[in-house]
Amino acid sequence: MTVPKFKKFNIEAYKPGKSKIQKLKKIIKLSANESALGMSPKALKIISNKKLKLEKYPDGKSELLRKEISKKYKCNKDKVICGAGSDEVIQMICQLFLNPKDEVVLPKYSFLMYRIYANIVGAKVVFAKETNYKISVAEIIKKVTTRTKIVFLANPNNPTGTYLTKKELLELRKKLNKNILLVVDDAYAEYMKNKDYKSGLDLFRNKENVFILRTFSKIFGLASLRVGWGYGSKKIINALNIIRPPFNVNQLAQMAAVESLKDSKFIEKSIKHNLIFAKKIKSFLEEYQIGSNDISANFLLLDFKRSRYSAKFFYEGLKKKGIILRATEDGYHIKNKLRLTIGSKNENLAFMNAAKTILG
Ligand SMILES: Cc1ncc(COP(=O)(O)O)c(C=O)c1O
Repeated sequence: MTVPKFKKFNIEAYKPGKSKIQKLKKIIKLSANESALGMSPKALKIISNKKLKLEKYPDGKSELLRKEISKKYKCNKDKVICGAGSDEVIQMICQLFLNPKDEVVLPKYSFLMYRIYANIVGAKVVFAKETNYKISVAEIIKKVTTRTKIVFLANPNNPTGTYLTKKELLELRKKLNKNILLVVDDAYAEYMKNKDYKSGLDLFRNKENVFILRTFSKIFGLASLRVGWGYGSKKIINALNIIRPPFNVNQLAQMAAVESLKDSKFIEKSIKHNLIFAKKIKSFLEEYQIGSNDISANFLLLDFKRSRYSAKFFYEGLKKKGIILRATEDGYHIKNKLRLTIGSKNENLAFMNAAKTILG
């Protein structure tokens, strides 16, 4: 049977952090930077309600959610767009701005979906080198040409865990040509307690040429429900709303996101938990000459340069014990490192126990 010719993309498909190990029923997944403490009990309560009416379409405009977002983050509701994960917002931004031959500048070790969506719409992806696994403003500027339309970056960055300081981020915006859109992905912003850090939203909420990405998949613990949002000028948001699928954020996701925004205590608890265990695990691994980035988000990029063991050996050893980390050679092409998500107390203890056995 013949089918019409479809497009072929020269793209490495996204490989998510693994979540299964053959033959093992119980696994500990520390490979996808999900929330250690799950979702707020308030959010869980609302989506566990048996009387939910799911036969009707959800509110396509996510009105209530956008209102709650604007209250919580002191920003303008009309400059918010919600998506099925921030992932969908990245996709829409690429669809809206990029024509074939336009260029997008990305840090080499950046979140993979920027390059994937940019490639799909035919744009040319240009990589800027990092310095010591940290985004370099100078290297980004070097890669800018008259064809550059967008610079994407996550701050803090996944998978490196490093971040640009407030000063560096402001410097980047200043040095970039005014007509280039800077997209700052704040996916892990809530975890950040570092004094020299400021989120993209805090720095640029009134800048027409900056677009901010936020997600409920990380600290809010709603990864499976798929809900995130973008923040930009009214002009951009109105244009995005024309290409947005009509009912892109499902009703459960909207309800859970609204409730989780109201539970500040739970967020505070998650931040504390993350800091305590990130510190513990970082110094524990140091004893085995496994280095990592300065603490930032809810993950660490482990470096085996000084270790007697390779990242692969450690990864396989943990896998045998049912613990999955993110192999950074897949997709990111980072050698001899692994990305570890900070888990729940039990998961972290299990990880450290297993590590002790593997590393001797
Ligand atoms: C930097 C960054 N941005 C965006 C996302 C995607 O988030 P979402 O689940 O909202 O699509 C991730 C997920 O890992 C991420 O690390």
